[in-house]
Amino acid sequence: METWLASRDHVRQRRGLVRAATPGDPVAPGAMLDLASNDYLGLSRDPRVTAAAVDAVQRYGSGARASRVVNGTLAVHAALEEQLCQLTGVESALAFSSGYLANLGVLGALGGPGTLLILDAHVHASLLDAARLSRSPVVMVPHGDVGQVATALNTRSQPRAVVVVESLYSVLGDGANLTELAALCAYYDAWLLVDEAHGIGVAGAGRGAVHAAGLAGAGHVVLSVTLSKALGAQGGAVLGSRALREHLVNTARPFIFGTALAPAAAAAAAMAAQIIADEPALAGQLQENAATLARLCGIERSPGAVQSIPMPSADHAVKAAATLRAAGVLVGCFRPPSVPDGVSRLRVTARADLTLQELDYAAGLLRPMAREHRADPSEHNGSGRNRITI
Ligand SMILES: Cc1ncc(COP(=O)(O)O)c(C=O)c1O
Repeated sequence: METWLASRDHVRQRRGLVRAATPGDPVAPGAMLDLASNDYLGLSRDPRVTAAAVDAVQRYGSGARASRVVNGTLAVHAALEEQLCQLTGVESALAFSSGYLANLGVLGALGGPGTLLILDAHVHASLLDAARLSRSPVVMVPHGDVGQVATALNTRSQPRAVVVVESLYSVLGDGANLTELAALCAYYDAWLLVDEAHGIGVAGAGRGAVHAAGLAGAGHVVLSVTLSKALGAQGGAVLGSRALREHLVNTARPFIFGTALAPAAAAAAAMAAQIIADEPALAGQLQENAATLARLCGIERSPGAVQSIPMPSADHAVKAAATLRAAGVLVGCFRPPSVPDGVSRLRVTARADLTLQELDYAAGLLRPMAREHRADPSEHNGSGRNRITI
């Protein structure tokens, strides 16, 4: 076994694919300029959010102690679900312990042999894993290809289908055509599952891309969200009709067989959701900073917080990220298998609380890297995963 582990490590080293979980203190004096985290609105350290977490710990203890369907459901979970409904305009919400588990839960509950899952080639790993676990037949379509979605829906033999997309893609930073996809799904009697991990708090003045597209409350549109990005906390949720929530409570395995979301995380996320709803200017500031960052870097602006800079190889990406780190700037370094099309990228995230001086400093380092490694746009269609059955 040891030899096998060493041989795997050797392969990773050779391909420039080694990952590390190195501790760092983002609030230490002289801390790095963080363009890698997903705290898009800076709410993880907002005093109102941290106070809500502390209050929940004092009231309920540090853990929820049981599954939601035993006696782990607390008032703070109900309050969170209510806030998420108010923020997104969707009828009903169910909280999970993470966004990853929310995706496993919803696709497990809707999937099975009678449900075709149609996945965009760039969806997040949690959705791929969810599809695998659901025992559904799966079709992957090229990234952003609505025509191929229509073909898959039209030619399906299964009675049910779910089209699975992200509202704003986590690595490329581009958006799905929600209006066309929702219309197609309505026509072909299918669900549209939109992972709003990078849309909540960012698009539609913070209310998300589904709300911005006027689709909140559409019965066939289901949202999954994480509470760990713009909401600055931890956890996830699925939003949809009351009937869907009831179905999830009774069938979503991560919900039933896992301990409920920790009270501190639930309370923090509920407070963050309220702040986002009450203060749309926060999302506006994030959008402004994202636009400034893209402009200063000389790259095409993506609609969300994530700005993506393609690199010619995993090795180039690692070296570029190391150069930036040495200069005090942290960026995401995305390499296979996190990038389905095999195109390594620097993933640079804007936040609402970045100053112009910080943006300018980072862009001064990023601009020459972006210029040097212009992408071939054909690389972006996720061809590595097109129409394969997983
Ligand atoms: C698109 C997308 N979905 C789901 C998740 C998982 O969310 P969480 O971190 O809450 O498990 C992520 C997080 O990386 C994501 O980017």
